[in-house]
Amino acid sequence: MRFSISVLCFVSQVLGQLPAYTGPYGVGLIDVEVPGNGATFSNYTLKGTDQRAFYLETVLTSIYYPTAKDYANASQAPHPWLPRPLEVIAEGFAKAGGFGDPSVILAGLQVLGGNVTIPAQVDAPLSPDGGAFPVIVFSHGDTSLSTWYSIFCGELASRGNVVVAIQHRDGTSAGTVIRPKDGQERNLTYLRPEDVEPVPSELNLTMVKRTFRQGEVHEVVQMIEAINDGGGGGTYRSNSRNEGRDLANWKGRLDLTHLVASGHSFGATSTMDSLGGELTLVDSFTASIVFDPGKLSGPLNRNVSVPLLVADSLEWSLIPALLDGQNHFDLVKRIAEDSLQKTNGSWFMTNLGTAHVSVSDAPILAGDLITAFDSGAGNATIDPQVALQRYIDVSANFLQFLKDGSRNGILASEVTHPFFVNESGRDWVVHVAP
Ligand SMILES: *[C@@H]1O[C@H](CO)[C@@H](O)[C@H](O)[C@H]1NC(C)=O
Ligand SMILES: *[C@@H]1O[C@H](CO)[C@@H](O)[C@H](O)[C@H]1NC(C)=O
Ligand SMILES: *[C@@H]1O[C@H](CO)[C@@H](O)[C@H](O)[C@H]1NC(C)=O
Ligand SMILES: *[C@@H]1O[C@H](CO)[C@@H](O)[C@H](O)[C@H]1NC(C)=O
Ligand SMILES: *[C@@H]1O[C@H](CO)[C@@H](O)[C@H](O)[C@H]1NC(C)=O
Ligand SMILES: *[C@@H]1O[C@H](CO)[C@@H](O)[C@H](O)[C@H]1NC(C)=O
Ligand SMILES: *[C@@H]1O[C@H](CO)[C@@H](O)[C@H](O)[C@H]1NC(C)=O
Ligand SMILES: *[C@@H]1O[C@H](CO)[C@@H](O)[C@H](O)[C@H]1NC(C)=O
Ligand SMILES: *[C@@H]1O[C@H](CO)[C@@H](O)[C@H](O)[C@H]1NC(C)=O
Repeated sequence: MRFSISVLCFVSQVLGQLPAYTGPYGVGLIDVEVPGNGATFSNYTLKGTDQRAFYLETVLTSIYYPTAKDYANASQAPHPWLPRPLEVIAEGFAKAGGFGDPSVILAGLQVLGGNVTIPAQVDAPLSPDGGAFPVIVFSHGDTSLSTWYSIFCGELASRGNVVVAIQHRDGTSAGTVIRPKDGQERNLTYLRPEDVEPVPSELNLTMVKRTFRQGEVHEVVQMIEAINDGGGGGTYRSNSRNEGRDLANWKGRLDLTHLVASGHSFGATSTMDSLGGELTLVDSFTASIVFDPGKLSGPLNRNVSVPLLVADSLEWSLIPALLDGQNHFDLVKRIAEDSLQKTNGSWFMTNLGTAHVSVSDAPILAGDLITAFDSGAGNATIDPQVALQRYIDVSANFLQFLKDGSRNGILASEVTHPFFVNESGRDWVVHVAP
């Protein structure tokens, strides 16, 4: 997601808060940052230094999980929606947007999101009921932050899933602090080609970022497996963010027969990389849910051999783009069809009335101001809560389908429109379905 932020300085309106989750469970939240495998994914260095730019020092995730509905602990502060320090995020947005001076953006972030918190219970115990929960690994988009998808992640947790949202350190985050348990903390902001040496082409840099993400996904999957094997106490002890006191009790509570890879935009592209292609490093994912696979993120992995749900926004399906010499919509459709043929369980559909940002928290927090951040946001014509609710519902229905083969909600529909049509009176148009 790319934002142009020049107008933030004119904005003095205070944003809303995030809505409460609606599922049968309460929602717990922990940040977990553990050592990575130390691999170096390219020889690019950060400009003007000899520091490796793509060095997998740690991996950072926010884990949203089911807890008891009435759990509360007043002495535990909620997580901010914008991780601190805001200066690091502001600097990344300024770089990505081509603005010289981050101070205007910093002021905007302070006013707009500085006081917003995520309404989840930090470090609550995992729900004692519910058996083993499916696990969704979520990857954010370009120039973004994992916390910007907190409603999607938290709402799925309230419905009985564990959602592990990765804060990527591939230079697509606006900004992030890398905090090794015993080592030097460092700030990493958005990386453009001119921020590394020797200066790569846009596509080469994109491919290094995608390769790096596969390294992070590999480490995260290993962590999830270790927690489920009873190693959560060790994860807690190696977590530099000092959360996860209850992880030792998660043995056998994760249903890794339902380990689902998910992501948005650049994160959809990188998620598809995890499903059996050239860049894939793990074969653990059993299904995938992706939103708006990237148009500017390089070629898509066409070899998806697990059940796949592709849910596009109207903006994404409506506006033609060329990728790899082909029409983007047709390419995505063919990938979904191939995956359907292999698995009998894949879909491609478009959420009408929505824009590229609609799956994130941003339109709900920013209201009409969102069009000032994102030039495509004006394609959304429906209430942002309704838009996001549809994405959450179709994802929950897909998870149910994976468990028992049932087809609920829009998944019960046949193909309605093999090609995109903005047909009034519908929520979704379905392009590929079993
Ligand atoms: C980095 O450079 C070394 C020495 O030239 C080379 O052996 C290695 O393959 C390079 N690594 C990557 C990831 O390109
Ligand atoms: C509440 O949070 C505090 C601060 O993190 C912690 O020390 C305490 O154990 C928590 N209480 C319960 C019941 O979880
Ligand atoms: C944010 O919270 C602080 C402390 O509660 C308060 O002083 C400040 O006015 C708030 N800012 C906005 C924009 O609401
Ligand atoms: C990271 O950025 C913050 C805010 O600008 C700054 O205070 C801090 O010193 C930086 N940390 C490092 C290790 O450079
Ligand atoms: C891009 O990558 C290709 C293949 O690895 C390499 O031959 C080329 O020199 C790179 N170009 C730039 C500008 O990074
Ligand atoms: C496609 O994915 C399958 C399953 O992961 C793998 O066995 C196969 O080698 C892949 N084919 C190509 C062309 O990458
Ligand atoms: C898909 O369905 C067809 C027809 O019912 C069946 O022959 C095939 O074995 C199924 N494939 C998979 C992977 O389930
Ligand atoms: C729809 O999105 C495109 C970019 O994807 C943008 O150029 C266009 O202005 C948007 N339309 C509206 C009505 O906002
Ligand atoms: C799509 O259709 C809806 C309902 O008819 C309409 O409000 C909206 O403006 C249309 N969007 C575009 C981009 O044409």
